Amino acid sequence: MRSPKDFFRPKAIGAPEPPREIAFRPSRMIHFFDPSNPKMASKVPELAKRCDVLLGNLEDAVATTDKEAAREGLVKIGRDTDFGDCQLWTRVNSLDSPWMLDDLTRLVGEIGDKLDVVMIPKVEGPWDIHYVDQLLAQLEAKAGLQRPLLVHAILETTLGVTNVEEICGASPRMQGLSFGPADLAASRRMKTTRVGGGHPLYLVRNDPDPENPEATRITAQQDPWHYTLARMVDACTAHGIYPYYGPFGDIADTLACEDQFRAAFLLGCVGAWSLHPAQIEIARQVFSPPVDEVLWAKRVIEEMGDGSGCVMIDGKMQDDATVKQCHVAVALAKLLARRDPDLARAYAFEASDLA
Ligand code: GLV
Ligand code: MG
Repeated sequence: MRSPKDFFRPKAIGAPEPPREIAFRPSRMIHFFDPSNPKMASKVPELAKRCDVLLGNLEDAVATTDKEAAREGLVKIGRDTDFGDCQLWTRVNSLDSPWMLDDLTRLVGEIGDKLDVVMIPKVEGPWDIHYVDQLLAQLEAKAGLQRPLLVHAILETTLGVTNVEEICGASPRMQGLSFGPADLAASRRMKTTRVGGGHPLYLVRNDPDPENPEATRITAQQDPWHYTLARMVDACTAHGIYPYYGPFGDIADTLACEDQFRAAFLLGCVGAWSLHPAQIEIARQVFSPPVDEVLWAKRVIEEMGDGSGCVMIDGKMQDDATVKQCHVAVALAKLLARRDPDLARAYAFEASDLA
């Protein structure tokens, strides 16, 4: 048993206090780059101006021969770059790999004050988070850090999905979860080689027409990820942390990427990974609430006065519950508008609305 009173105690002598709340920070796109690739590394300062989050990736997609170069590349980038408002995250190697211990030791020791969030892949249960939590506290204390690093887990194993609620509540450092469809498909033995998105064979079909049994029967494609995404959103929200859609692998299919991101946004996700510069703008657009929705929500809030009772607006019933839905849209719009003057104008916020 662990006493609830100890939950917010630093886990190492001299480590910073764990956070009581995870503040929302715009993170519509978590843009991945490989710090071992000099061409990508040289683009980081320019990308920092366009992205909410830049993530130095050390795990999958970095060749084993480049693991150390990626780690050292990220140390250098972290030291030399002014990220402005952009957050710097990293995805370290998995806990069962030979690199993870050095990844965390080196990164926290050298650029712990620049890093905001550490993404941990292939998390299977709360025990993985407990290990990372303890290790981070030791490393933070050693480095003399004043601000605790936050932890983000990728939901990409069958066991991880089974334990998702416990993972979200395993440490006060937990910032959020990303959905990882590639590893998850492999772990579950799903029969797809795609990274996210739909599958044309995952469908339902109308019954045959008894009058015309040979007639074409209408089919409707279903979403193979719906269950996991919805479960992840509930688990995260219940714990006051943030859900994200992960990678969309078909870079050329920008329309399907947009659809996948939007489905995640509508379900409650706050952002998605971007694996290519083309996906940065898609995520920015999709994860910023639509202007007409925000203007409508402002109108409902205005007309609902103290938020109780019932009014009709343009033939639509509004009450205490619908005004809460509208507050969700407006609150997110305000948080994003503070960072993005174009959005502030489009949502018609005054400076005083954003103070
Ligand atoms: C992401 O890491 C995935 O496996 O989809
Ligand atoms: Mg993965």
